[in-house]
Amino acid sequence: MRTGDLQNAPIGVFDSGLGGLTVAAALAAALPSEDLVYLGDTARVPYGSRSPETILRYFYNNSAFLKNLGVKLIVIACNTVSAQVLDLNRFLDLPVLGVIQPGARAALAASRGGTLAVIGTKATVKSGAYVKAIAALDPGRRVLQAACPLFVPLVEEGWLDHPVTRSVACEYLRFLEGTDVDTVILGCTHYPLLKPLLTEVCQTIRPGVQMLDPAHAVAMEVKLLLESLHLQRSGQGTRRFFVTDAPEQAQAVASRFWGQAVGEELRFEQVDLEVK
Ligand code: DGL
Repeated sequence: MRTGDLQNAPIGVFDSGLGGLTVAAALAAALPSEDLVYLGDTARVPYGSRSPETILRYFYNNSAFLKNLGVKLIVIACNTVSAQVLDLNRFLDLPVLGVIQPGARAALAASRGGTLAVIGTKATVKSGAYVKAIAALDPGRRVLQAACPLFVPLVEEGWLDHPVTRSVACEYLRFLEGTDVDTVILGCTHYPLLKPLLTEVCQTIRPGVQMLDPAHAVAMEVKLLLESLHLQRSGQGTRRFFVTDAPEQAQAVASRFWGQAVGEELRFEQVDLEVK
């Protein structure tokens, strides 16, 4: 592809489901001129309880689909996948950017010097990806982790401020008690929707703790990467949204993740990755 064509090519973004729309929304806000193509693998979500081998296979399927659409860059808007492909910075001759490193950098910048904590899916926590990324940037920094698998179905159900979610959060966040944690990384694309509730629950367990959503930092790194590669697009960007199952269901809940701020109605097209 010629440089001009590449500049005008879309940015590909994928997630295991719709949670990655929180990252896509941050990209749309930071880079309004860029065309975005989003893929949510709703047929195979959740990834968080799967083996590293399966998650890697899904990564290759999703990336191949986006590459076939001619994207110039792939953003893995899924912590679980990013955690497994931490060492892969290029795939099929395309730059690939995950959420772990930007999240780790942003957490260190936001922290007041205390211990950091990471909450995420079982696979993300088991991989230790955030712990490794933080250790590479600040070797002395203590990092605690906790898997919070029930948060994903609670968010999908729309129980963002529900007594059941509150009581699950109290249980999951108890590990913060008596620690000097000052920043908790929301290491799963669904968790930013629980930020108000989690911040509130934390005030009773470990007052003063801040919740860090890596999405903004990811968008800023994409912006810098495009600038360094001279691949920025000009004009008004367009968006296309694909899911691998139940587009009407995606349509119904997508605004929860995409956010009112973007002020756009989302239309989802269904795609079968097996035949691509
Ligand atoms: N999108 C996933 C993540 O950010 C969470 C949902 C899943 O388990 O697939 O880790």
